[in-house]
Amino acid sequence: MTESSKGSEPPVPRHPARIADPAPSGEDLQEESSLRPLSLEEFVGQRAMRDQLGIFLGAAKRRGEAMDHVLFHGPPGLGKTTLAAILAHEMGVEITHTSGPVIERPGDLAGLLTNLGPRGILFVDEIHRLSPVVEEYLYPALEDFTLDILLDRGPSARSLKINLERFTLVGATTRSGLLSSPLRARFGVTLRLDYYAAEDLARIVERSARILRVTIALDAALEIARRARGTPRVANRLLRRIRDFALIRADGAISLAVTCEALRLLEVDERGLDEMDRRLLDALITKYQGGPVGLGTLAVVVGEEAGTLEDVYEPYLIQEGFLKRTARGREATPLAYRHLGLDSRAPAEAEGAGGQPELPLR
Ligand SMILES: Nc1ncnc2c1ncn2[C@@H]1O[C@H](COP(=O)(O)OP(=O)(O)OP(=O)(O)O)[C@@H](O)[C@H]1O
Ligand SMILES: [Mg+2]
Repeated sequence: MTESSKGSEPPVPRHPARIADPAPSGEDLQEESSLRPLSLEEFVGQRAMRDQLGIFLGAAKRRGEAMDHVLFHGPPGLGKTTLAAILAHEMGVEITHTSGPVIERPGDLAGLLTNLGPRGILFVDEIHRLSPVVEEYLYPALEDFTLDILLDRGPSARSLKINLERFTLVGATTRSGLLSSPLRARFGVTLRLDYYAAEDLARIVERSARILRVTIALDAALEIARRARGTPRVANRLLRRIRDFALIRADGAISLAVTCEALRLLEVDERGLDEMDRRLLDALITKYQGGPVGLGTLAVVVGEEAGTLEDVYEPYLIQEGFLKRTARGREATPLAYRHLGLDSRAPAEAEGAGGQPELPLR
């Protein structure tokens, strides 16, 4: 199956200057394993979700059974992969990591499922990108813990029924809307992760600073938290960059002054928007009078993939009230104008000419 049939284009390289991109960079992936909490207790924030998970986990443990299949969804960098690892750790079972597009054939799925340890966890990242054929094979595995594999083709074709040990499928997706409904219905537990409050992110920053053995002032941790787009991955990345800055420009300790100076250098503004966010809002306002503009047009203007704009940039801009998604396209809000220091009145009005405002381009 091609990706486009699931609504997303092939990935294009991201803008190199994007420090606030919640998608993982190579460096993040290297450092993240050391910063990842291993127990539910250590997992900061997402209180309601964590409480629910704690109950399901405790019950499965007490019964000595595999947990129900779990789906985590929410924007990138909020802790989906971390939670999957925590589940395995807390259950004391093995976890196998894979991702939707990697499981190409039913045989791949059979291999993964037959190799899981007792009550093991199969973690499928980007589960919305599973091929429909593989999905079909997955259904009986999820429901009855059996796999019907077709051996050979044509007249010699035979079907082999494999009985599986009980296992837990943990799925993660940033785009739950693209999940087929039969697949969605087979998850007993569906949990949504939301952007973190600044106080929670500050605790995450302090915890990471302890692990990285760097001294950080309380107000500095809060400042990083406020500018991290509600996203632990971004908070950790900012912390690492500021740690470097503190080492070269100060005595290695992270103070509020060092933090503000480093963030200025990184072009992360006081609301946590970076160069790319501002470019997007600026294009919307100066080229299209604030919109509405279609997503595709906006993507071309800022030189970014439409799917990335939709998944990565927009959710935060919308949540923070800089951007509106309407049926006719994207619109900049008065807050976006103020933030960029631009006048939100129509050009003619702003010049005091009293004439008709220009019709927006579409
Ligand atoms: N609640 C949390 N407490 C402490 N650290 C966290 C928490 N959530 C996430 N992190 C940190 O943020 C990093 C990114 O989290 P994770 O990889 O789990 O995100 P994700 O939701 O799987 O992202 P993606 O959608 O890109 O796969 C982790 O390395 C971890 O250090
Ligand atoms: Mg992940």
